[in-house]
Amino acid sequence: MSDHDALLDTVLAYRRSKPLLVALDYDLFTWVERGWNTAPALARRLKLDARAVAILLDAVAATGFLAKHRNRYRNTPLGKDLLVQDSPNYRGSNLKYQEATWQAWSDLKGVVKTGRPKDGLLQWIHKGAFAEDYIKAMGDVAREPARDLAAKLGLAGTAKSLDVGSGAGSYSAALVARNPALEATLFDLPRPLGVARRLLSEHPFAGRFRFKAGDFLKDSFGTREFDLVLISNVTHCESAANNRLLVQKAFKALRPGGRLVVHDYVSDRGLTSPRFAAMLAVHLLVFTGRGNVYTLGQYSGWLRAAGFRGLRHRRVAAGGSYPSLAVIGTKP
Ligand SMILES: C[S@@+](CC[C@H](N)C(=O)[O-])C[C@H]1O[C@@H](n2cnc3c(N)ncnc32)[C@H](O)[C@@H]1O
Repeated sequence: MSDHDALLDTVLAYRRSKPLLVALDYDLFTWVERGWNTAPALARRLKLDARAVAILLDAVAATGFLAKHRNRYRNTPLGKDLLVQDSPNYRGSNLKYQEATWQAWSDLKGVVKTGRPKDGLLQWIHKGAFAEDYIKAMGDVAREPARDLAAKLGLAGTAKSLDVGSGAGSYSAALVARNPALEATLFDLPRPLGVARRLLSEHPFAGRFRFKAGDFLKDSFGTREFDLVLISNVTHCESAANNRLLVQKAFKALRPGGRLVVHDYVSDRGLTSPRFAAMLAVHLLVFTGRGNVYTLGQYSGWLRAAGFRGLRHRRVAAGGSYPSLAVIGTKP
């Protein structure tokens, strides 16, 4: 690829992603699977413009997420696995979240000037149906890393855990699956917690979840109650000062000998790699305002300052494109 082609490939990447996101947002992959497999049929079924639907689907087919024969579309094996609603591997909720937050990215130019997005994370969570998609979106991408992290923690003797900013509860679900004696408390804002409660109601270990609604910046986590506190993918939504506070509150909530696990996407010291983390920092700038991606040095500093000892870290999902890190400290 020439330098100019490489430049254009990056600049025009949005032209590949936006049609895919819009097609997913209208559930077109699911409707195609159910037999509405031409543009006019889809347009009639969903009250859309037939010409626009045809152009959209051709663009999606050009990027390989649909196949086209004459005027009919069908899902590719990848599309059937990841983009059709009934599939156990469905990742559509996460794509709906990317589509919903596209507007926040469109405002990047203004945010670079003011340093502040129009809406912060809490405003987003309280917008219409957003909380539901947001929480399901977290669930979509959490299942595999959650299993990996739970396998790496060694949970013998861990009876009570607290999951701060628990989202869909995927990490607590992975912990209880590993340790049959564990009782897991999920702590989140009322709306997201309601979504998690519903998602987990059919879970085989439903009886081992406890639900605590609250604001992690304002409300107590308890005192000497838990053997393990997990703060997963929450610190990137918050400022460094708030993260120091969360770590201090976790210290108070743990019994002596208990562990804090802070799990997140972590940047190298120069903040330019891994590439995903540098891009996530931009997402957090436009979507949360105060969130960021931090370094292992920063995490270790927060844990040590709160009193944690025996610090170690474990790599999670290390082979993939979205590696994360668990920083673990013990309360003496
Ligand atoms: C990026 S999600 C992480 C979800 C989950 N821990 C995971 O790793 O998949 C951040 C979570 O923090 C919750 N959250 C954000 N601000 C909060 C607050 N002030 N108090 C309690 N929960 C909050 C959100 O509702 C969301 O569930």
